[in-house]
Amino acid sequence: MRSKIVAGNWKMNKNGEQTKELLRALSGGFPETEAEVMVAPTFVNLTNAVFQLKNSPIEVIAQNMHYAENGAYTGEISADMLQNIGVNTVILGHSERRAYFGETDELLAKKVTTALNHSLRVMFCFGEELEDRKADNHFKVVESQLKNALFSLDAAKWSNIVLAYEPVWAIGTGETASPEQAQEMHAFIRKTITEAYDETIANKVSILYGGSVKPANANEIFSKPDVDGGLIGGAALKADDFKAIINAI
Ligand code: 13P
Repeated sequence: MRSKIVAGNWKMNKNGEQTKELLRALSGGFPETEAEVMVAPTFVNLTNAVFQLKNSPIEVIAQNMHYAENGAYTGEISADMLQNIGVNTVILGHSERRAYFGETDELLAKKVTTALNHSLRVMFCFGEELEDRKADNHFKVVESQLKNALFSLDAAKWSNIVLAYEPVWAIGTGETASPEQAQEMHAFIRKTITEAYDETIANKVSILYGGSVKPANANEIFSKPDVDGGLIGGAALKADDFKAIINAI
């Protein structure tokens, strides 16, 4: 059985007070669920969030990480620093990191390797841009993103990987991939992993969908057999919306 996961990526939103408040609101009347629920506040609020959620089923995860163990990388955060404050999962490869901070597949391969060597769980994001889809290149793009960053890993490492397919054209735009488009891509991803590794690994890895998931569409998207949950942006910033999405799974 694959884990069902609902994760909130808060991006560069919520200061310390607002983080505390949103976590308080989320924790009150928290839905009964078998899904794993995660939130990713900004780096400066991670320590407090871990402390605040100490006895909660909600896991605090990080939005990014550097590949080096330590050293002269001003402004960066290492795997050890995350673990040391009780963070055990890190989002890597988000399209905003790729687009605004020049993160390439090659760089991401290094980050993924470091994170996994530290036994951090990696939530690896990828997805095509609108032009790729219009040109019918979306499967090729996704395949190469996976191949370049992940397919050199030993099979054993895959137990610590979660995938998040996030078509760039659906992020923050209000335009969601249809449940059929999500299912089609998720099934393709599983087929690609089967070819690179085997069916066991492909069937075990949780594949989340991300891109304008809201309470109104979550149920239909999550009902697809290869969609194991969601990575939520905007709707994760409102406690009621996020809880409704958790309820949908
Ligand atoms: P939205 O849900 O705001 O479209 O963002 C999705 C996302 O980028 C999550 O990582």
